Amino acid sequence: MYPKELHPVTDQVRESAHLDEAGYQAMYRASIEQPEQFWAEQAERFLTWEHPWHTVSDCDFRQGQAAWFIGGKLNVSVNCIDRHLSSRGEQTAIIWEGDEPTDDARISYRELHEKVCRLANVLKSRGVKKGDRVCLYMPMVPEAAYAMLACARIGAVHSVVFGGFSPDAVRDRILDADCQTVITADYGVRGGKPVPLKANVDKALAKCPNVHSVITVRRTGETIDWDTTRDLWYHEAIEQVSADCAPEPMDSEDPLFILYTSGSTGKPKGVLHTTGGYLLSAAMTHHYVFDYKPGEIYWCTADVGWITGHSYIVYGPLCNGATTLMFEGVPTYPDASRCWQVVDKHQVNIFYTAPTAIRALMAKGNEFVTSCQRSSLRLLGTVGEPINPEAWEWYYHVVGDSRCPVVDTWWQTETGAIMITPLPGATDLKPGSATRPFFGVEPALMDPDGKELQGAASGNLVLKRSWPSQIRTVYGDHQRLVDTYFSAYPGLYFTGDGARRDEDGYYWITGRVDDVLNVSGHRIGTAEVESALVLHDSVAEAAVVGCPHDIKGQAIYAYVMPMHDVEPSDALISELKAFVAEQVGGFAKPEFIQWTPGLPKTRSGKIMRRILRKIAEDELESLGDTSTLADPAVVEELIAHRLNRA
Ligand code: WT7
Repeated sequence: MYPKELHPVTDQVRESAHLDEAGYQAMYRASIEQPEQFWAEQAERFLTWEHPWHTVSDCDFRQGQAAWFIGGKLNVSVNCIDRHLSSRGEQTAIIWEGDEPTDDARISYRELHEKVCRLANVLKSRGVKKGDRVCLYMPMVPEAAYAMLACARIGAVHSVVFGGFSPDAVRDRILDADCQTVITADYGVRGGKPVPLKANVDKALAKCPNVHSVITVRRTGETIDWDTTRDLWYHEAIEQVSADCAPEPMDSEDPLFILYTSGSTGKPKGVLHTTGGYLLSAAMTHHYVFDYKPGEIYWCTADVGWITGHSYIVYGPLCNGATTLMFEGVPTYPDASRCWQVVDKHQVNIFYTAPTAIRALMAKGNEFVTSCQRSSLRLLGTVGEPINPEAWEWYYHVVGDSRCPVVDTWWQTETGAIMITPLPGATDLKPGSATRPFFGVEPALMDPDGKELQGAASGNLVLKRSWPSQIRTVYGDHQRLVDTYFSAYPGLYFTGDGARRDEDGYYWITGRVDDVLNVSGHRIGTAEVESALVLHDSVAEAAVVGCPHDIKGQAIYAYVMPMHDVEPSDALISELKAFVAEQVGGFAKPEFIQWTPGLPKTRSGKIMRRILRKIAEDELESLGDTSTLADPAVVEELIAHRLNRA
């Protein structure tokens, strides 16, 4: 449809950008050759410290250990709010766009300060202290940002759980981090539909005896259950406390938050990020990658329940004194032009979204885009999964009118901030490539034998040195951190992704090489869906793989072996899908469920996922060696009954 060409930096973009190619090269070189000096300068420039650090960093990949700006003291809420008050107290910090197009609000930095201080005092009044964990299960309302910053202000560690997770998933996360306080809302509203957040919390808390306080934001005012000893309304509680709250001085390495993410095995991991290094990386990448300039309106469509929302709706933009737009709804409500209507309404300059949203909107046709002006847009971003060149070109030509650079940003919950990305004034763009490393990032490609590949090559993507927003630990299980990220290639951080490096040194992320799926940008471990399925009384065994999906990138394909006395049926398939939604969340529902009398296993009992993947992908020619199977006949059976995905 469009020529798949190189998109060189235009003169206009280069001249207005923070950095051009020479600037990128100079800073990248400094970050690799004199890292101590480089990071010291950046930390001075981007952050306000109450007390200087004595050591820039002390890291050891073999122990999975990292510390940055050691000895330094700072408070994240001061950096994101207080220090902006004298110069931009009346500037809008947060533009809130509600689910309904008629519903919006603007919160100035001064108002943000008051709201955060009050909520911090409410937390204190309930006994929350530095180091305590607080679970946030919130819709996309400004109070979600207040809650994160209120925790940061008093040194409490937030654990945001995405509002799409089920009560059971909320319970598991509350228990794992031993959160004793929960902040939620009566309901969320998305695409015109209510989400019963408080009722979900009530269900979750039936098994969480340590939770003593639930603070509930009133979003819809619909009826909810109430436990007078435990529950308090946000709007009532904040009126009863002072609007001043002295910030807790935090050590650079004090925890800021825990965020659960899926791995290839076992239960989700609590990724722990700390204070100074995380905030620096979030702020610095927000500044350079989005080329943010004072006064601009910046919109990231992610949910605060994911790392993208943490780093690029709340912490990065607010640390830089930006105006950040927070959207409660979905891109297709009331119709598929919603995003572009919001862009026009609020004069958005920078727009950051996921490939799955781009593909979904592309499928609806150009009319929804071209009916809006979009003249304020000057930069587009994408994150979450590989973007196919067709979607990239559509984003560039149709949404951006062939005028706005597209930054394809590769990173992970564990990296805290963008790692491989174009810089708009410096990097010539290739559709589908995340291009080159950000400052201080040293990627490498490895072959299966642990040998580093040189030049143009494909392999497993690793990082060779620490960066400020590196994951510090898996909450409560440091060994799991070492095993997951630092054992495959001793001395290197293993990302779990595969990548290709081309002759220009550009990186093309090809996707996960482990058993982690990426469905509509949601990261889901196959093991989580399998454990949910086998919990059902009718299921004897289950194996889950990904298969390609035009809009979602990947869809979940489950092979289910019923219990001997169970008759497979369509009704049971629907029941199993609903059951997974209940166990994990709606986004983890299998798209396809194939009944099978058995699973292909090696003689030692290991499920051969490679074969299951190929069958789900309909790539029957490349099944590979099946001779090691305990019962090769199973494969014939699976092929014969494979589902038509069209
Ligand atoms: C995984 C991390 C970090 C933001 C949201 C997802 C995939 C992320 C890209 C990209 C290709 C990407 C990777 C990564 N991914 N960005 N630009 N191109 N793949 O965070 O849930 O921790 O998932 O998302 O596979 O490992 P996450």
